[in-house]
Amino acid sequence: MGTMERAIETVGLVKTFGETRAVDGVDLSVPAGTVYGVLGPNGAGKTTAVRILATLLRPDGGEARIFGHDVVREADVVRAKVSLTGQYASVDEDLTGVENLVLLGRLVGHRKRAARSRADELLTAFGLTEAADRQVKKYSGGMRRRLDIAASILNTPELLFLDEPTTGLDPRSRNQVWDIVRAVVAYGTTVLLTTQYLDEADRLAGRIAVIDHGKVIAEGTPGALKSSIGAGTVHVRLREAHQRGEAAEILGAALAATVLPDADPLALTVRIGGGSERGAAEHASRALAELAAAGIVVDDFSLGQPSLDEVFLALTAKGAGS
Ligand SMILES: Nc1ncnc2c1ncn2[C@@H]1O[C@H](COP(=O)(O)OP(=O)(O)OP(=O)(O)O)[C@@H](O)[C@H]1O
Ligand SMILES: [Mg+2]
Repeated sequence: MGTMERAIETVGLVKTFGETRAVDGVDLSVPAGTVYGVLGPNGAGKTTAVRILATLLRPDGGEARIFGHDVVREADVVRAKVSLTGQYASVDEDLTGVENLVLLGRLVGHRKRAARSRADELLTAFGLTEAADRQVKKYSGGMRRRLDIAASILNTPELLFLDEPTTGLDPRSRNQVWDIVRAVVAYGTTVLLTTQYLDEADRLAGRIAVIDHGKVIAEGTPGALKSSIGAGTVHVRLREAHQRGEAAEILGAALAATVLPDADPLALTVRIGGGSERGAAEHASRALAELAAAGIVVDDFSLGQPSLDEVFLALTAKGAGS
């Protein structure tokens, strides 16, 4: 074992539903004290994997350990350490926010007064004080999601599963949830977060596993995943549309890269392969000089890191034939 404690360790994890291999041989290693992102499209197997790790489903093959404890043989020990905020969460719509938290607090073993003070503390921390006495069915989506997360950390868990905590939320509510996740981690809880949003994983997670069809197709830090598909992307905007063909040729040759199709007749996008970011900047400035030398006027130019969206498309396109 290394020096770093593992919150989650899975080897060859499998779960099938009839013909569907929802989780198909997943190996994960999640360091304690971090946010770990599990990224994948609809049906990738994210919820199934989380439910196995939270002891709600039995795996059909492989092994999973939470802080060294087997999720099947030591399910009780694991249950005491984890908490799950589901994609479809479990607060009672007819109760108020504070009633829900007090009730759930009693269920996880707090005495009446402790349950009430923990509820008040969380409602304050999550900006729900004003909504505390309102029925949950009258909450907005963002308020509801914050309450769901509050409900899952009534007892500070060692490991918190957040299954798509921001799906369907507006940007402001997403930001609030992100702040909550950061606060939870700062408190020492390890967070496994599933998401379909690459920017979300990018912002929050120290490492990311990209899963598709039940398999991990890539794993690493957000930066490493991005640079795995190229050093960057050059965007150029021309003044004259008729120069686009010539500009594409020059850029393609100078950057040893392909020019991506673009609907805008003035715009050109080129993905630079391999190498470091610094190398990319040097190549890009040389390419610009060559455009100028050919008398092509550039109105706008930018060099960006590839987005995780591009990474995801590149990764899933590779696997598309299988
Ligand atoms: N109880 C079940 N019975 C049968 N099939 C299931 C069951 N649960 C999940 N599946 C199937 O397993 C696969 C993975 O589903 P899962 O819910 O884990 O995906 P997901 O990554 O969470 O997707 P989403 O982003 O839509 O939540 C899908 O093909 C799904 O239809
Ligand atoms: Mg799901």
